[in-house]
Amino acid sequence: MIDTEQPEICIVLGTRPEIIKLAPIIRVCEQKGIPYSLIHTGQHYSEKLDAVFFEQLNLPEPDHNLEVGSQTHGFQTSEMLAGIEEILLEEQPDTVLVQGDTNSVLAGAIATSKLDIALGHVEAGLRSFDREMPEETNRVLTDHAADYLFAPTADAAELLRDEGIPEERIFMTGNTVVDAVYEHSDLASDRSDVLADLGLESTQYALVTAHRAENVDDRERFGGLLEGIDSVAQANDLEVVYPIHPRAEKQIDELEIPVPESIRLISPQDYLDFLRLEQAATIILTDSGGVQEEACIVGVPCVTLRKNTERPETLNVGANKLAGVDPDAIERATKEMLKMETTWENPFGDGTAAEQIIEISQAESREPET
Ligand code: UD1
Ligand code: UDP
Repeated sequence: MIDTEQPEICIVLGTRPEIIKLAPIIRVCEQKGIPYSLIHTGQHYSEKLDAVFFEQLNLPEPDHNLEVGSQTHGFQTSEMLAGIEEILLEEQPDTVLVQGDTNSVLAGAIATSKLDIALGHVEAGLRSFDREMPEETNRVLTDHAADYLFAPTADAAELLRDEGIPEERIFMTGNTVVDAVYEHSDLASDRSDVLADLGLESTQYALVTAHRAENVDDRERFGGLLEGIDSVAQANDLEVVYPIHPRAEKQIDELEIPVPESIRLISPQDYLDFLRLEQAATIILTDSGGVQEEACIVGVPCVTLRKNTERPETLNVGANKLAGVDPDAIERATKEMLKMETTWENPFGDGTAAEQIIEISQAESREPET
């Protein structure tokens, strides 16, 4: 917390992408001297998914860490909910901000919406229309509980209107992922040694990430995905680096999934090294939401290892293609994307999302209730 005053804003986070995408908002609070507090649910706790980002992005230690760890969805969410409620009752902020679609977001949303505290959802209005994904449930429920919905794009705002969310709650701000990429792009190219360390300086390579439950928790799907990437490597004479999420690593071990020799598994990277790997990649293959956005922002073609995306803007500007996990489809989509001109415009805003979100949150909390 910035001082001992009652916080105006409470920020809830729990996983790698939330730390990265909320960092610009934390930075604005620090710069403007806004009293805020930070609750970490502890959903991610491994050093490489958590502490490394606090350190590199220069973030303050969380005021609270609920240390919930890995659990089943219901158990994990309920522990977070109870912990967040207790803190909110104590701190009584004007506004709680949550970001994205994880269980930490849902817990923050439910806890806040039962109290007399406004809820702001950063990255509102994303829909995959696939209710099999736990993230889709989290997004829909959080959007419908929120008082301020910070939509990254006009399409996301439109989806919210279509679901009957009142206009006065919807604010189109862009996505804070752009703020984060713009702030760190030069640092990544100037300071990261990852390409030299991995021997990739003058090499054409594909950067891969895959961690979604629906892909890596199923032997056949995960196997198909790896086979497809192997074909891409052979057909295009590309090296492949795959910074592997602990969930995926665990599944490879437990399900005894063979990893083709062409795929180099490396540990999860810190933000500057990962951004550098994205910038210099020939192509990115991923099932991550944030990585689809970042590929589009840094101008590298992307193939999404899913049948749907809640980031259709990346498809519309020609930066991304959906492939699912069928090996032939992955190879075909990669071939097409490698031919694309990479001159698209970034559809996710101008890098001022965090500033706008804080301004709106403060202005709205001062408005008399009607
Ligand atoms: C979670 C989010 C997902 C997000 C991803 C970002 C939900 C439902 N899922 O998925 O939307 O894209 O974070 O990376 O909220 N594990 C570790 N160390 C950790 C955390 C997890 O080893 O710090 C391993 C554990 O084996 C754990 C597994 O990863 O059981 C899954 O962790 P969990 O937080 O449940 O989901 P993610 O797959 O990380
Ligand atoms: N990321 C990282 N190191 C890695 C892989 C990803 O720093 O080894 C960053 C990436 O730059 C992006 C975010 O993590 O900002 C995406 O998180 P993830 O893929 O875990 O979650 P999702 O976006 O799918 O929810």
